[in-house]
Amino acid sequence: MGRSLAQVLRDDLGFTGTKVACGEGHCGACTVQLDGVPTLSCITLVHTVGDREVTTIEGLRDHRLIHAFVRTDAVQCGFCTPGQVVSAAALVAANPSPSKDEIQHAMSGNLCRCGTYPKIEEAIRTWQD
Ligand code: FES
Ligand code: FES
Repeated sequence: MGRSLAQVLRDDLGFTGTKVACGEGHCGACTVQLDGVPTLSCITLVHTVGDREVTTIEGLRDHRLIHAFVRTDAVQCGFCTPGQVVSAAALVAANPSPSKDEIQHAMSGNLCRCGTYPKIEEAIRTWQD
């Protein structure tokens, strides 16, 4: 059986910003972008990535969304945060001023056990401030 993209990123390449929680494609913690599209790296076999560009949270460290998450206090334990930011970055790249509904739809695959959803939404709404 092949290895997952998350395993290779974390164990071989040391990009440990990508988190694995459920490991079964249910929670979004492991989200990375493949050619800008949010993708669950825990259920993506690395050999299927091909020549697509992989963007992890490490590649977004200077994104204004990071500051927005901090400013709005959208981080509690922080375990879901890398996946949230990666998904949000894809959203605002396509739609810089998303509505509440668009945010909720785009972020529906990213679960937060700490329940910071209202603040995550605020961070995405105000990321350009
Ligand atoms: S760790 Fe990949 S979806 Fe939960
Ligand atoms: S901040 Fe703890 S799971 Fe989201």
